[in-house]
Amino acid sequence: MSSNDLAPYHGLSPDDAMASLGAPLDTDGFAAIAEACRKGRNDLAGRGLDDQGEKTLRRFSTWEITKYLIPVAQAHFRRVLRQNPDLPQGTTETEGGAKWFSLDEVLTLRAFFAAEGAKTREYLPYRPQGLPAKVIAVANFKGGVGKTSTAAHLAMSAALDGYRVLVVDLDSQGSMTSIFGGRVADEWQTVFPLLARHYGEHLRSENQARLDRGEAPLPLEDTVAQAMELSAQDLAQKTHWPNIDLIGAQLDLYWAEFQVPVWRMAARSWKLWDALSERLEADGVLEQYDVVILDTPPALGYLTINALAATDILLVPTGASFLEFESTGRFFDMLHATFASIEDGENIAARALGRPGLSFEWDAVRAIVTRYDGSQQAEFAALMQAYLGTVLSPYRQDFTALVGQANEQVAGIYEADYRDFNRETYVRGRAAFDETWAAVKRLLIGVWRRDELAAAQAAE
Ligand SMILES: Nc1ncnc2c1ncn2[C@@H]1O[C@H](COP(=O)(O)OP(=O)(O)OP(=O)(O)O)[C@@H](O)[C@H]1O
Ligand SMILES: [Mg+2]
Repeated sequence: MSSNDLAPYHGLSPDDAMASLGAPLDTDGFAAIAEACRKGRNDLAGRGLDDQGEKTLRRFSTWEITKYLIPVAQAHFRRVLRQNPDLPQGTTETEGGAKWFSLDEVLTLRAFFAAEGAKTREYLPYRPQGLPAKVIAVANFKGGVGKTSTAAHLAMSAALDGYRVLVVDLDSQGSMTSIFGGRVADEWQTVFPLLARHYGEHLRSENQARLDRGEAPLPLEDTVAQAMELSAQDLAQKTHWPNIDLIGAQLDLYWAEFQVPVWRMAARSWKLWDALSERLEADGVLEQYDVVILDTPPALGYLTINALAATDILLVPTGASFLEFESTGRFFDMLHATFASIEDGENIAARALGRPGLSFEWDAVRAIVTRYDGSQQAEFAALMQAYLGTVLSPYRQDFTALVGQANEQVAGIYEADYRDFNRETYVRGRAAFDETWAAVKRLLIGVWRRDELAAAQAAE
């Protein structure tokens, strides 16, 4: 047998191995690696930016608008534009070429069709009047299952459909923030101040009770005092999407995982899990937007607990593979243990005081198969379906190379220009996320409708 036939790990020379090794790494070595990553990342991310260093959203063609965004025939669309010269007319890249429109213009056109077009067609998405926005969280403590990709595409789909969307990044990795071109200097531009403020409000009412009892008040530390001035609107930034705003994240947000338990030790009666939910509500976020999308870190820490407690629709992405399925099962075990222990802790006190107990409730919970390969995973996915029943969404999000490609420019599929791809590849890749949205939109309008009917019944 010649040495060429050896397995790659046989016949290695210790001297050659040593020669190619390089020096040992000290702590500063990590900083140097991080710096190299930062430079490469900025180079890559910069490719999606305009001259001012801002992300911009591409324009949408007539073909795309009539196929995906406004359900009218192309000929009719063109006729309506001709008859209404005040409407956005689009721009062409070549003489007599296809017309392209910004998303702002698409939203204007959609509003026009909704006001003037056939009443039987759905131009504006359903949202019951007077009812709050729905909060959708994407969570799983397993890493890399497609949480951020799913959440980002859902936000973009909802926006393309005409909903007003707030995206909240709760992951200190900040991937969602990168996708939406967010700029976050430190934890003060993340949800951190909302949690601090919620704690601060609790301390204030606690201190009032203490004063009434003649006890010394608990001190309001500087961090907390500073947060008392801040609202969700102060933290939300505009994105390159006209109807998507972002509360971003970066590494410093991880500090919350250390700070929250310290605050809880200082004030045992602080309901830390309610912080995000109650601040979003108090700041009017649920009136200002239609859909709030939360991206969570691959961990069940305090930020994820806050996200889940604020959530109406919980989506749990998982691959159709043994390890991911097993891990997802453990995640549901942990969810049960975590929320049951919060309920138990509260309900002992509630019973003692004769108050109604705490019981968490989610409008809908679905596991979603992501990165699905029908040629390899059909049997496994069918087995998961058999065990999970309706909890597993019947829609499987296909694996698509478009996500990886689109992500290189830190963009979603909806941000990529279809002319950069083979048309069929584009249509298939896009369909994967259109169907994910269709499945989630069905949940969304279903739970809104349920609420609407319940509200009407309660008013009778
Ligand atoms: N439908 C898909 N087809 C192909 N690749 C996908 C798909 N969804 C996600 N990916 C890829 O899988 C990888 C992990 O995805 P993503 O970052 O969304 O996971 P995550 O659960 O948010 O990870 P983390 O736990 O680190 O937050 C990424 O490289 C992404 O491009
Ligand atoms: Mg992620």
